[in-house]
Amino acid sequence: MKFFVDTADIDQIKELHSYGMVDGVTTNPSIIAKSGRDIFEVTEEICKITDGPVSAEVVALDFETMLAEGRKLAKIADNIAVKVPLTWAGLQTCKALSDEGTMVNVTLCFSANQALLAAKAGATFISPFIGRLDDINLDGLELIEDIRTIYDNYGYDTQILAASIRSANHMSECAKIGADVATAPPAVIKAMASHVLTDKGLAGFMADVEKAGIKIL
Ligand code: G3P
Repeated sequence: MKFFVDTADIDQIKELHSYGMVDGVTTNPSIIAKSGRDIFEVTEEICKITDGPVSAEVVALDFETMLAEGRKLAKIADNIAVKVPLTWAGLQTCKALSDEGTMVNVTLCFSANQALLAAKAGATFISPFIGRLDDINLDGLELIEDIRTIYDNYGYDTQILAASIRSANHMSECAKIGADVATAPPAVIKAMASHVLTDKGLAGFMADVEKAGIKIL
């Protein structure tokens, strides 16, 4: 499973990249707003850190403007994936940009039917939002499973990009289901390394290192 980082925080992206944990980056208008930076400036900087897809989201709601925005965003770098919302205008923009050879990430997906439409519109990525479904007592992981089944049934190339990930558990569950990509905030990716028995085991080893005076360097 590929790991995308759901942030525009340059330091965090660089740090995770140094561990080999960044296969791409996703942003959205809320993430850009939180960064306090210009969308073009920060996105260009992110594209220089990773060769993987970097999602940059349009802000218009109508097809013509969305397409113009998508074309402008795509010029930032070769690894831009234009992110469009799952609306009819977004799907139309997805089809047009995909036909031009631009990667497209269709976002705000909350149902299997929406994912089916995105695949038919030529999306490179579909972004089902797990956490936001869980927030309203629906099952986000079940949606990932349904989309996996549908895409496999028909051999769609669209990659399932599990989004709105809130916990390390979501990451392993997505990997078990077979999501192609999971995008998560840096804190969630870092939490994946934590285990109470690792901490306990290491403390025991360190106590013995001290007792025996073991030195390697
Ligand atoms: O980038 C989309 C997504 O991952 C949003 O997550 O936590 O705002 O639901 P969240």
